[in-house]
Amino acid sequence: MNQEQQNNQQQPTRFLVFSASLRNDSFNTRLAKLATQVIEKNGGKVDYANMKEFDCPSFNQDLEINDAHPVGAEEFRNRILANDAFIISSPEYNGSMPGLIKNAIDWVSRFRPQPFNEHHALLMSASPSMGGGNKALWSLRMPLEHLGARVFPDMFSLATAHKAFTPEGKISDETLSKRFETNLVAFMQLVEAAKHYPCMKKAWVEFLGEQPDPITERVE
Ligand SMILES: Cc1cc2nc3c(=O)[nH]c(=O)nc-3n(C[C@H](O)[C@H](O)[C@H](O)COP(=O)(O)O)c2cc1C
Repeated sequence: MNQEQQNNQQQPTRFLVFSASLRNDSFNTRLAKLATQVIEKNGGKVDYANMKEFDCPSFNQDLEINDAHPVGAEEFRNRILANDAFIISSPEYNGSMPGLIKNAIDWVSRFRPQPFNEHHALLMSASPSMGGGNKALWSLRMPLEHLGARVFPDMFSLATAHKAFTPEGKISDETLSKRFETNLVAFMQLVEAAKHYPCMKKAWVEFLGEQPDPITERVE
């Protein structure tokens, strides 16, 4: 084992965690905060972010003069790169993800090297509805996978979120609470394994048969 691998072994796995809601009393923020507790309890390191830090003006290709990026996009990019994986707890708006998170993803996708590529992601949602905001996660998966992120297959959606938390911010149903923790720990184990076996490289193009052409290339 070389020095770099030894250093890697000793460092805890780092997770960027944030809620894609700007609302003060957001259920998704509660879920994101609960995720940080579970990660820390299980030996991971958390970098908790507020979506305000990543908020960007509406994307407009004309604003990309001299490779300019908004401050929120720079921050989002830096925090993705500073961690081994990221976890988003997202509301569902009209059967999809909120516009602000898609907008931030679009801005970040313009950096080279393209920051989402090869980064592991876990998606979760909370909603007062019976679906728990799950459709937001299917829509969020699409751009992230398109950009080469490894989105964990199991997603957690907390239904009837307005009734689901204890006053201390835990999930009150014991079975659901266990599923939440099991889901997170399984993700943590995958991220840790991938960190120690970086040879698992992905050939990042949307379709392997795509004709190479700089105008359609999304990574360097
Ligand atoms: C514009 C808008 C659209 C919404 N559409 C949905 C929806 O399609 N499905 C759903 O479960 N909840 C929907 N909701 C309700 C949100 O799930 C609810 O407001 C939730 O509390 C938002 O997440 P937050 O608490 O983390 O801010 C919508 C809310 C808004 C404001």
